[in-house]
Amino acid sequence: MTSGDHQDDDGRRLLRHHGDVDTAPGLVDFAVNVRRDRPPTWLRDRLAAALDRLGSYPGAADDLAARAAVAQRHDRHPDEVLVLNGGAEGFALLPTLQPRHAALIHPSFTEPDVVLTDAGVPLTRVLLDPAEDYALRPELVPDDADLVVLGNPTNPTSVLHPAQAVCRLARRGRVLVVDEAFADAVPGEPASLAGDRTTPGLLVLRSLTKTWALPGLRAGYALAAPELLNRLAAGRPHWPVGTLVLEAVRACCEPHALAEAETAARQTARHRADLAAALAALPGVQVRQPAAAPFLLLRVPDGPRVRAGLRARGIAVRRADTFPGLDPDHTRVAVRTPEQNALLVAALRAELTMEVSA
Ligand SMILES: Cc1ncc(COP(=O)(O)O)c(C=O)c1O
Repeated sequence: MTSGDHQDDDGRRLLRHHGDVDTAPGLVDFAVNVRRDRPPTWLRDRLAAALDRLGSYPGAADDLAARAAVAQRHDRHPDEVLVLNGGAEGFALLPTLQPRHAALIHPSFTEPDVVLTDAGVPLTRVLLDPAEDYALRPELVPDDADLVVLGNPTNPTSVLHPAQAVCRLARRGRVLVVDEAFADAVPGEPASLAGDRTTPGLLVLRSLTKTWALPGLRAGYALAAPELLNRLAAGRPHWPVGTLVLEAVRACCEPHALAEAETAARQTARHRADLAAALAALPGVQVRQPAAAPFLLLRVPDGPRVRAGLRARGIAVRRADTFPGLDPDHTRVAVRTPEQNALLVAALRAELTMEVSA
């Protein structure tokens, strides 16, 4: 299939591809963008202490405490917060809004595409142009799109759109979903709209997964006007999220957690700059810059062969041709520790050198 159409069965399968499929035990994992291999000790202790409360149903007080913590963190009202089973649940709920025409800004995380297509929502894929550095072009979004979804920073391009540019996509009668799953990995969160209470139809989705190494818990939240959140949550079951999720959300909004996330974001930015420079020095490797997220989008010559070669050398990277708009040479790599990053650079150098001499 040609990259970017994703209409046939093969294309649908590719849209469902995620980085966890590209890695395996024993490989150094550059495929999954989770910051650490397990949650920090203080968070595990909090969750362990909450285990004793699993004997009761999660009550309104638990829910309110979590929403109040999020509200305080983002300068919102608790009624503007909906705790979710991960950002992914926010996408799964979008069909509840009964959109007539969705516009998805690509290349980007593909779950919204999968969910809306499966729900039979007519959709337009708006492909941003690498020659324009994937800049947002509001005029490419169909006028009648009543649902627009984008990621910021964007997976897999690592592009951070300025907040003002994102807001230009909003209009009355349209829901604008901004997936900020990686926003807390950007120092100072300069482009986050989490605290924006004025842009019409804005729905921000946040995740605890990446920074706090909680993919197995499923924790995140949505921020929007209360009426919009009520519509979104209309079909949810009673007790929609568990006690441990509520506890994690509370804990990760506390000042010490925010300070830790900020320190980690700054450290990642330094490691990313070093990794980008080392990768860009390899023959034929293009690194998309500037990068804002804890991963880099590369183009490597003979991508499928090189990825297979890296795997044979014990390194897992993420194929990126499953994202609409990208091709088989596109490859995404997480930013890891300097020691691990050096392993990636050395292995990639070896693979590329083999290719040149072949
Ligand atoms: C860009 C992006 N948004 C959202 C998600 C979903 O996050 P969560 O684990 O909170 O459901 C992911 C997970 O891979 C992601 O990469």
